[in-house]
Order: sequence, then C-alpha cells, then structure tokens
Amino acid sequence: MFGGIAGRYDFLNHLLSLGIDRYWRHRTVRLVPPNGPQPILDVCTGTGDLALAYDRAAGGRTAIIATDFSPEMLAIGQHKAKRAGADGRLTFLEADTQSLPLSSDQFQIVCVAFGLRNIADTNRGLAEMVRVTAPGGHVVVLEFSTPSRQPLKSIYGWYFRHVLPRIGRLFSRESGDAYEYLPQSVGEFPQGEAMCQRMRDAGLVDVRSYPLTFGVATLYVGVKAVSS
Ligand SMILES: C[S@@+](CC[C@H](N)C(=O)[O-])C[C@H]1O[C@@H](n2cnc3c(N)ncnc32)[C@H](O)[C@@H]1O
Repeated sequence: MFGGIAGRYDFLNHLLSLGIDRYWRHRTVRLVPPNGPQPILDVCTGTGDLALAYDRAAGGRTAIIATDFSPEMLAIGQHKAKRAGADGRLTFLEADTQSLPLSSDQFQIVCVAFGLRNIADTNRGLAEMVRVTAPGGHVVVLEFSTPSRQPLKSIYGWYFRHVLPRIGRLFSRESGDAYEYLPQSVGEFPQGEAMCQRMRDAGLVDVRSYPLTFGVATLYVGVKAVSS
C-alpha cells in the first residue's frame, strides 16, 4: 500500500493535515533534541521527514539512519536528503522494524512518526526500537490520536471519515484505500495512558505523553533504563 502512494505521499500529507504535520515533527525534535555524538535512528521513515528534521537540529554533527521496508518511499527520502545536502550524513536502509539489522544499545534517539500503528506486530516493533536504543537514550513515538473534547471530537470524526478518504480517492485508487484505512487504524490503536503502558511494558521508564493540536496527534517519550 505504501509503495503505491509513495509519489503522492508528501503532497497528500501536507494537504490533508493543512501543513500541521511539519509542526508536529518540529515539536518532536524540540522536545527530544539531539544530544551528543551517538547516532539517531528513524524507523518507518517513509520519505524521511523526521530524519531530515533531526539532521537539521543536529547541525549535521550526528549520523542518522532512516529505515523503512518500502523501497519506493526510501527512494524519495534519498532524493530529498540529496537536495538538502544531507546525503553524506543520512543513511537510508531497507529494513523491517520488526527485525532491525542493527546492533543493540547504540542510538541516543530512536523515533517513529505515524509508523508504529502500521507495523503488523506493534509490540515487536517497539521491542526492536528499545533494543537498539543506548541505555539512557530516548524512544520517541509520534502518532495520531483522537481529540476527547467537543466540538473538536465531532469535527475531527467527520473530517477523518468523510473528507479525508474522498480527497485521497481524488488522487488515486491506492490513496483512497490508504486514507480509508487511516480512521479505522487510528481508532483501534492504543492512545494516551494505554500507549504509555505499552511503552513501559517494552522496558521503558519515565514515559510521558504530550498531546499536540488539541489531541489530534500525541508525542510519547520514554527512556531506556540504565541497568545497574
Ligand atoms: C504513514 S507512513 C509514515 C512515514 C513517515 N514516518 C512520516 O512521518 O511521514 C508509515 C510508513 O511505515 C512503513 N512501514 C509500515 N510497516 C513497516 C515495517 N514493519 N517495517 C518498516 N517500515 C514499515 C511504511 O512503508 C510507510 O512508509
């Protein structure tokens, strides 16, 4: 599905979120900034926007690895990195988040934006993210959530169920399918405390959640414990 929409992914993302997705990634990088020389990993990177945001924040001083299992998405990310002059620092790697071909305990930050929900086995994906994080490092999950307050809750439900799939379908059959699946997958995915608990169960401590834009998205941050 993602391979089929890769060419239109960025355009549709910015259109359907009214550009707010850029702000969410910016907030992510501000809330969990790069710190020190250890590398950063962005899984389910898609076309690489969060990896590129981290590269800008690190001022090019930190190596960044961006993984995804869709070669079509990665090719677009690679092209964007080249255009941004970041291709020497940013490495794109085809990999399934459920079994990362990377050694343990090495990344200061392991992040995922709008990707954890799409992994077939969420817990396994999360466990892999934790495994490759350095002790004391951060695991960062940016994901859609459902606003709990009216009237935004109803407006959001209507937009998500009726407007978003129609706009997606305008651009192609595959995009229509992808955006039809979005509200369902967001509704079924753990949010708030349930997501924080999943992260604790994966071995993270000091887990916090930060609702963004009235709860349309939430940023979850946990720390990998330094074992004594
Ligand atoms: C909604 S996109 C998000 C892309 C990007 N992180 C962003 O913020 O725009 C989800 C991405 O997750 C990838 N993906 C889904 N399951 C995966 C898995 N098991 N391993 C690697 N990538 C996966 C898809 O190929 C797709 O590029």
